[in-house]
Amino acid sequence: MLQAVGRLSVSAAPRILFGIRHYCEKTATKLRVSQALADAELGKNVKVQGWIRSVRAQKNNVFFHLNDGSSLQSLQVVARAEMNDPSLTFGSSVEVKGVLKKSPNQKQPVELEADQIHVVGECNPVDFPFKVKERHPLEYIRQFPHLRCRTNAFSSLLRIRSEATAAIHSYFKNNGFVQIHTPIITSNDCEGAGELFEVEPSGPDYSEDEKFFSVPAFLTVSGQMHLEVMSGAFSRVYTFGPTFRAENSQSRRHLAEFFMVEAEISFIQSLEDLTKVMEDMFKSATEHVLAHCVEDVDLFHKHVTPGHRDTVDAMLTKTFPVITYTEAIDILKRSSEIFTFPTDWGCDLMTEHEKYLVKHCGNIPIFVTDYPYDLKPFYARDNQDRPRHTAAAVDLLVPGVGELCGGSLREERLNLLRARLQAVGLDDNYSWYLDLRRFGSVPHGGFGLGFERYLQCVLGVDNIKDVIPFPRFSNSCLL
Ligand code: 4AD
Repeated sequence: MLQAVGRLSVSAAPRILFGIRHYCEKTATKLRVSQALADAELGKNVKVQGWIRSVRAQKNNVFFHLNDGSSLQSLQVVARAEMNDPSLTFGSSVEVKGVLKKSPNQKQPVELEADQIHVVGECNPVDFPFKVKERHPLEYIRQFPHLRCRTNAFSSLLRIRSEATAAIHSYFKNNGFVQIHTPIITSNDCEGAGELFEVEPSGPDYSEDEKFFSVPAFLTVSGQMHLEVMSGAFSRVYTFGPTFRAENSQSRRHLAEFFMVEAEISFIQSLEDLTKVMEDMFKSATEHVLAHCVEDVDLFHKHVTPGHRDTVDAMLTKTFPVITYTEAIDILKRSSEIFTFPTDWGCDLMTEHEKYLVKHCGNIPIFVTDYPYDLKPFYARDNQDRPRHTAAAVDLLVPGVGELCGGSLREERLNLLRARLQAVGLDDNYSWYLDLRRFGSVPHGGFGLGFERYLQCVLGVDNIKDVIPFPRFSNSCLL
């Protein structure tokens, strides 16, 4: 028997608690917990590995639940009382061999009748920060970024995050977009907002005044400019990757490192062509997540943010309204709400304004279009309207979060773009960007969606730090 499990390479000495049946390794099918629960292997010898989520000892039997991250549900293991051992504790990792049986208890379809239990790694439940069967608040588990994936709530979140990522890739694939790996290190500041992390090597081999790339280089704040390059050949492109902003903010919707989904489309004529893609992508990804992560999403909608499911259903069934920035300012000015920030034409919309507008329009996502020209970056297309001068830009605002997407038509007219770059003092660095307008320019536009804010919106999670595996924000870079 000892030899049978000796192949496991773990640092702790392997412990076999008990074994009775003779095991031929080849006949014990290795199963994930989700496969075992699907009960296709009933009556067969199987091997399951995972972490103990609860243990209950009775006179004749010991019961424990095994979870391996493949589903929210754990697999109940039933072992004879003499197989019990002090090392079978909440949090320890084990490998169990046995036979899958139909469970007499309605709570689970199957259970694993153990013949052999091998504790792979022990866990002292007194020191372990999570307690058995306790539903710890998200703020509590956030203190343990190295361990919180062992909780139900965070493992559900991570499965949903993974499924939503796949759904977004599928949406773009199914709609003829080419994925572009835009660079992480770049020499441009796409947004011009100055929230850049500079990249320089450290160590004795590098002198302080010599730049590694010969020019200042930064972590990307957006892949938009690289997508604009590619949209000039592929028409429809997208990217989905990490994005960095040195925002000195402790807010519940800002991170220094977040994931952004960005799309760029050529030969579009109006903002409507863009808002259609934003709305379709949002709905298609969300429907996919709701259909494929039923239990995980339920956990959030029932226990973390009760009542949020109705909001999500309304988002999916209603068409997102479109209002102009000018109409938005009128709504804010007419409201009896007291806002902290001014609501005059020309002022940026703050989170409090965005949340109010969403509520005002029925608590569903809304598009706000045609922002003041001076509020938007140099690349936004000039609407050439006066006296209120606007740019063809659009934000998607969503319940509970505020801004989820920002996008615009891009200025494709060489003379107008050149003049704007000169006006903002950027003409030296962007000759390549002007080239795109010189050689086969086309009307085009695109947008970026903050992936963590998307997850907050669908799950109703209040703090952005609870929807990313390892949050980075000012004064915090744990692990
Ligand atoms: O509105 P933003 O700044 O747009 C751009 O970067 C465009 N260049 C995108 C494009 O057109 N290709 O950012 C887009 C979205 C925001 O709407 C927001 O959801 C998210 O990215 N975002 C953040 N998410 C978390 N933490 C931050 N610090 C964020 N900053 C922006």
